[in-house]
This record gives sequence, structure tokens and C-alpha cells, in this order.
Amino acid sequence: MPDRRRDRFHLYQLAVQHPAAEIDLIERLFREQSGRTAHILREDFCGTAAVAIEWVRRRPEHHAWGVDYDPEALIWGRRQVRRLLTSEQQERIQLLTADVLHAETPPVDMVLALNFSYWLLDTRAALLTYFQRVRTQLVPGGLFVLDAHGGPDAQRLTRERRRIHDPTGEDFDYCWERAAFDPISGRQVCHIHFQFDDGVRLERAFSYHWRLWTLPEIRELLEAAGFTAIQVYWQGWTAQNQADGYFVPVAHGEPDEAWIAYISASG
Ligand SMILES: C[S@@+](CC[C@H](N)C(=O)[O-])C[C@H]1O[C@@H](n2cnc3c(N)ncnc32)[C@H](O)[C@@H]1O
Repeated sequence: MPDRRRDRFHLYQLAVQHPAAEIDLIERLFREQSGRTAHILREDFCGTAAVAIEWVRRRPEHHAWGVDYDPEALIWGRRQVRRLLTSEQQERIQLLTADVLHAETPPVDMVLALNFSYWLLDTRAALLTYFQRVRTQLVPGGLFVLDAHGGPDAQRLTRERRRIHDPTGEDFDYCWERAAFDPISGRQVCHIHFQFDDGVRLERAFSYHWRLWTLPEIRELLEAAGFTAIQVYWQGWTAQNQADGYFVPVAHGEPDEAWIAYISASG
């Protein structure tokens, strides 16, 4: 068993990822947008492939591809595949070490680009090439699902801290730092840090140099790549003024301080 306090992928999954909730959402989105059920999923920028793994666990007819160019993340992901999946489930998942701009997989029902990972493509030319590439990987009528965030908070230099419960180890603090933002280029530098109660820290466990893309830019580039039925999904609010986590299709958003949205686009 690796030292969980030193295992940045383990801490990342606990702090950042909610694959079961994400699959609830994308299954619903796919049904709403295409009127049928998705079977084959491709998770781009998959890292440790948490969503692809959850996808094949969810239903026996589900198949998944994960694509990432980082061999270290994929080694970790493959270990999880062996640890969490039955041998039958393992036959329904393939993790590919490749650049998403070039990866070639058989046609899939749905391509995912989540946790803003496609923001690592920081020019219009690169993002357009990626979106065009995704279209070629979908079955006719397949769906591309991505997320985005924004609002004034997304441009502030900040350190946000959250307490994370680790049911298999020690609780810890997760810190999201937006360390730099250039309003001219839209480029940001963000870091993830982890800290334990005894002072042990994983400083800059993950760092991202990415571009803060806006929804109008993303929608225009999806359109330019040939996608149709581009739909933004927005969250509602609870009576206590908290985001309710339930995303619905909207024509207009709210000028919130910090918003998260999902976008679906038909290939
Ligand atoms: C923010 S992590 C996302 C991890 C996980 N999928 C999630 O949703 O939290 C971004 C991942 O994208 C990968 N990545 C960045 N650019 C890529 C590219 N051009 N092709 C393939 N993978 C890429 C990195 O290796 C990293 O694992």
C-alpha cells in the first residue's frame, strides 16, 4: 500500500472528483439531448480515469476509453482498474497514453472533457483543432460534454481552503490557489496544495497553466468545429442561497460571483 499522505492522486480524487455524481449528470444530459442511452464513453484528459472506471462499473453494457498523455497518472489509473474492477469490467475499459489532439479511438457515444482540463489548450487554434478532433471521434449524433467556470471570482488571485474527509486514512486540508492571472491573455497559473494536521504539506501537488476561456468563446469554437445543438446547463439555488448541484438547460445564465456550468454539443 503506497503512503496515502504522499499519494497526490489519491488526495486529488478525494478533494476534487465526484465520478458517481458526474455520471448521473452525463447520463441524464445524453438522454435529454439524444433521446437514447449512451453505452460507449471516452474520457479525455482522464488523468487517473476516475470517471471512465465509474462508467464501466455503472452498467454491464458500458464501455470506456480514457485518454491522457501523462504516463504517471495512467499507471495510477491502471492500478485502480485492477483494484476496483472485476475481470469482466476490466475488459470494457482501455486507457490510452496519447495526446487528445491525436488520439484515435473507435467511434464513441460521448466524449467528456471535465474539470476544465481543455483549458490547458490555450490558443483558439489549439482549442478549435481539439474540438474538430473530438467530432471525428463521435458516432453520428454523439455528444461532447465539457464544463466551464467563471464570474468575477475566477479572475481573483486567491487561496481557498476546504477540509477533506479521507475514510481510508487521515483527514486533510485541500487548498486551491489562483497564483497569477493576466487579463490581456486570459492566462492563469493555479496550484493545488494539500496539508495534514501535523504540518506535513504537499505544496504544488498539481499546477496548471491554462487560459480562462469564456462561454461565448467556447460556444463559438464548438460551432466553428461543426457541433450543433450547443446547450449550456446551469445550476439552481437552494432556499439557503447555496448552489443546488442540479444542472438544467438554460438560454441565459446568472451574473454570479462564481459559477460552474456544463456544455453539451451534438457531433
Ligand atoms: C486537471 S487534470 C484532469 C484530471 C481528471 N480527469 C479530472 O477530471 O479531474 C488534467 C489532465 O490532462 C492531461 N493533459 C493535458 N493536456 C493533454 C493533452 N494534450 N492530451 C492528453 N492529456 C492531456 C494531464 O496529463 C492531466 O492528467
